[in-house]
Amino acid sequence: MTPPSKLAMVPFVSVANMMRLVHHVGLPVFLAELTQAVTDDFKRWPAFDKTPRVPAHSPGGVIELMPTADDTLYGFKYVNGHPKNMAEGLQTVTAFGLLADMASGYPLLLSEMTLLTALRTAATSAMATRALARPDARTMAMIGNGAQSEFQIIALQAVCGITDVRLFDVDPAATAKVMANLRDTGLNLTACTSAQDAVLGADVITTATADKRNQQVLTDNMVGAGVHINAIGGDCPGKTELHRDIVARADMFVEFPDQTRIEGELQQMPLDHPYTELWQVLTGQAPGRSRPDQITLFDGVGFAIEDFSALRYVYDRASGTDYVENLDFIADPDDPRDLFGMLARAA
Ligand SMILES: NC(=O)c1ccc[n+]([C@@H]2O[C@H](COP(=O)([O-])OP(=O)(O)OC[C@H]3O[C@@H](n4cnc5c(N)ncnc54)[C@H](O)[C@@H]3O)[C@@H](O)[C@H]2O)c1
Repeated sequence: MTPPSKLAMVPFVSVANMMRLVHHVGLPVFLAELTQAVTDDFKRWPAFDKTPRVPAHSPGGVIELMPTADDTLYGFKYVNGHPKNMAEGLQTVTAFGLLADMASGYPLLLSEMTLLTALRTAATSAMATRALARPDARTMAMIGNGAQSEFQIIALQAVCGITDVRLFDVDPAATAKVMANLRDTGLNLTACTSAQDAVLGADVITTATADKRNQQVLTDNMVGAGVHINAIGGDCPGKTELHRDIVARADMFVEFPDQTRIEGELQQMPLDHPYTELWQVLTGQAPGRSRPDQITLFDGVGFAIEDFSALRYVYDRASGTDYVENLDFIADPDDPRDLFGMLARAA
């Protein structure tokens, strides 16, 4: 059998190579660069095709496709969200994705995205925090200490100068894991016994809990003036994290409103509830934080452009290096119309 042609080959970033790439770049630098890549794409928001992601729900979770494109590149991610998985020894979230050339439709990069989703979600929170938190914010509360949490924390340390972290999870083993994983980061880490305890003195509160229902991780009395909240765990219909009263009291910032309305904290609110699109803050078209005592809420659900940015960033960083391997992925007959002949000759 003849070996696959050059056109048959698609660069692939495996989990092992993604880990090598992150270590080569350095996690804080990777997160800072990814924050910039996501920010750059949010600043050219109108250039993208946008649609709410396409979900397939089951009683235990959801599988979603997240597509977007600009004039030259197309990207999509396959991702699941199954809060019940952890109890069965599986992850809540796994993902992979693809970047393609709009002109030919040929794939440019296939990548693992389980790690990359945690990285881009952290970069997106960092982007929102940099735009919306008080510039003197140094202490964060991290509620939900699962797979996403360390990435969220390191991104806020690298991009926003967070120095102190107060941790809470309903499962103390999850908090102990974060304490151990982050012991050499220079952060002051405090394990807390309740969410109420964790938010004491926090300038930024990030919630990343997993539960397929409406939770009340934060209630109105827990959040003081001037706090910025990243609520990233509420990302499905019927799956929210915040008490309605704190959502009502905060100024809300969103990614793509059509998707946030279905999946975010916004689903709890009436149709006329005010919000600001984050891209407009980043381009200076809308105000972000206007007072030190304002409560800002990033109602993050995860939008396709963040995955597009992450794939584009990895493509730029890894192309032509040994962090990619070539997969025989696109059938490439000698005569483009003779796909059958290619199969027949392989007998
Ligand atoms: N917005 C986004 O872009 C985005 C991206 C990835 C994941 N997510 C969501 O973020 C959440 C966390 O993801 P993960 O991969 O870290 O999940 P995970 O299952 O690894 O961790 C979730 C943690 O939340 C804890 N928890 C559950 N209820 C809690 C409560 N009431 N108070 C405190 N802790 C609680 C669990 O014990 C667990 O340790 C999920 O809901 C996931 O769907 C959002």
